[in-house]
Parts: sequence; C-alpha cells; structure tokens
Amino acid sequence: MGRYRYPAIAESEVTPRALFEQRRRFLAGSAALAAAALLPGALWPRRANAWPSLLESRLEDSLPSREMAGDEALTSRRDITTYNNFYEFGTRKSDPDVYAHRLVTDPWSVTIEGEVNKARSVALEDILRDMDLEERIYRLRCVEAWSMVIPWIGFPLRDLLALHEPTSDANYVVFESLYDPDNLRGQRRSIIDWPYREALRIDEAMHPLTLMAVGLYGEPMPNQNGAPIRLVVPWKYGFKSIKSVVKIRLVKERPTTSWTEQNPEEYGFYANVNPRVDHPRWTQARERRIGESGRRETLMFNGYGDEVADLYADMDLETHY
Ligand code: MTE
Repeated sequence: MGRYRYPAIAESEVTPRALFEQRRRFLAGSAALAAAALLPGALWPRRANAWPSLLESRLEDSLPSREMAGDEALTSRRDITTYNNFYEFGTRKSDPDVYAHRLVTDPWSVTIEGEVNKARSVALEDILRDMDLEERIYRLRCVEAWSMVIPWIGFPLRDLLALHEPTSDANYVVFESLYDPDNLRGQRRSIIDWPYREALRIDEAMHPLTLMAVGLYGEPMPNQNGAPIRLVVPWKYGFKSIKSVVKIRLVKERPTTSWTEQNPEEYGFYANVNPRVDHPRWTQARERRIGESGRRETLMFNGYGDEVADLYADMDLETHY
C-alpha cells in the first residue's frame, strides 16, 4: 500500500532533546515558583500548553506502528479532516472543519470516577506521561454506510483504566464529551440530549484493540476529529467512537447512551458493524470508502472478527444490534 509520509522537519528546526528538556524543567520550575508566590495555599493551577508541548515531543520519537486494515490504502488527510460527524458543530459533514476552531482544548483534563479504587481528575499531560503511544491503522465504518482508513496515534484504553483499578462491580464504562454551548454551536440545538454520551461493556473497553486516540497522521488530533482525546472502537459503528472525552465513569448497570436514547430502533447499544442487520432506513451490507468510487462489501465486525467475535459468542446479534 502507498504509505504516507510525515511532513519533513528541517534539521535546523529540531531542538536537541537535552536542551529542550532542560528548558522545559527550567520553565516548569519558574512557573511553579511564580504560582506559589501568587497563590499561597491555592489549588495547583494547570499550565496552558503543558500537554501540547509534551505530545509534540512524544510525536518526534518513532512510535511503534500496527496496521490493522490489511493492505487497504489510507484515506487522505484532507478527507479525514473535512468530512466529519461532530454534531457539537452542526449536522453537515463540512461543519466541523469550519467551526471546530472554537473548541478549547488546552488545558484539558479527564475525570475517571465511579467503580474504581482510584477516582481522580487527571490532566492530559499526566495521562500522556503515563501512557505508551503507538500508531494504529484502523478502518472506521460509519453507520451512514461510508468508511475511511485512518492512521491513529493513541494508547489502549485498558492501560488507562488499569491505573485507576476498576472494582469488581465495574461492568460498563460510560464516556462523556465536553459540554460548552458558548463555543460548541451545535449544543444550542437539542439534536441529542447533550453532552454526547457513549458506553462500552467492560470487556469491550478492556479489549486490546480499543484505543484512546490523541492524534492522526503523526500529528496531534485535529479539533474536528475529536481533540484532544477520543475513543476509537474499530469493530463498531463510528458513533460509538466518542470525541473530546472529559469523563470516564465505570458503572454497574448498563447505562443509556445518546443515540440509543434518541432513537432506539435505529441505534443499538452494541452497534457492532454487521452487514446482516440493516439500519431501518438503508442497507448495511455495503459501504462507500471515502475517496474511492463504487461500493465495497461491509465485513462482519468491520473485518476485526478474528479479534473480537469471542466477546459475543453467546449473543444473538440480530437482537443485540
Ligand atoms: N463524538 C461526539 N462527541 N459527537 C459526535 O457527533 N459523531 C460520531 C463519532 N463521535 C460524534 C462523536 C460519529 S457518527 C462518527 S462516524 C465518528 O465520530 C466520526 O469520526 P471522524 O470525524 O473522526 O471520522
């Protein structure tokens, strides 16, 4: 397949790592001193630009890469960033690219709570410091019968969950997106009951294919694709892959989710890609690969059946669509 190339960076633009780290330590030290002087006894303020500079430096390393889309060609970066579903910015595919500059991503933190021994709100820079990043090339199949092949950068969700020690009552994992109607114009209309919510069963969440993505095409996540951190579950319809995650809650009972709440006939909780179960308004047997002409057959579990079919061995997937 035609591999993409990362944009070339001139040698002169690259700060030697030792110098860069020395400078970072110095900046961190002086920021800390200034903060301590100004705010005695106050909560430690989060520094703007802490996660972007950390992520940039991690992306300079060569990351392990796994191709999980066979030899299918990558969708162009342009298509991946201009043809999006991100209803927080409007319902047209072009809306996210036009309006997503309004998404405020820095500083960013994620609250991990519920059925865990170590609940906390954690700054994105601290998450990035703890996680090993890698590249995963996955197909993404939208419920609207189009698909893309995307080179994500991220880490397995299970590594993050493990750090917080799920209890034996953690049966499901619920995710919530940012709620900020001042900047997210779509949230001023009640298309769904905001904030956007999705959920997985705990074994789905702990599956090694389930990724928290922080970038694509070797760069930090573009806003329209769910900056700064989003879920990617490659064997499920795209609506499960929630963007701009601010909360992860582990719970005992199966929760409701935004789309199943809005229209349970059309959007099931499981939402596994299944060419044999049609959406009430169109077939799911075929899909249009963005950037190509014609249609291709949709694969069971989006082609990831060898890895995930066991999770559903005892279930009727026509009932649990
Ligand atoms: N997450 C939020 N918060 N809001 C959304 O509207 N759309 C979903 C999913 N995650 C959506 C979301 C749908 S329907 C799809 S197909 C994918 O995001 C699209 O991801 P992409 O734009 O990166 O291709």
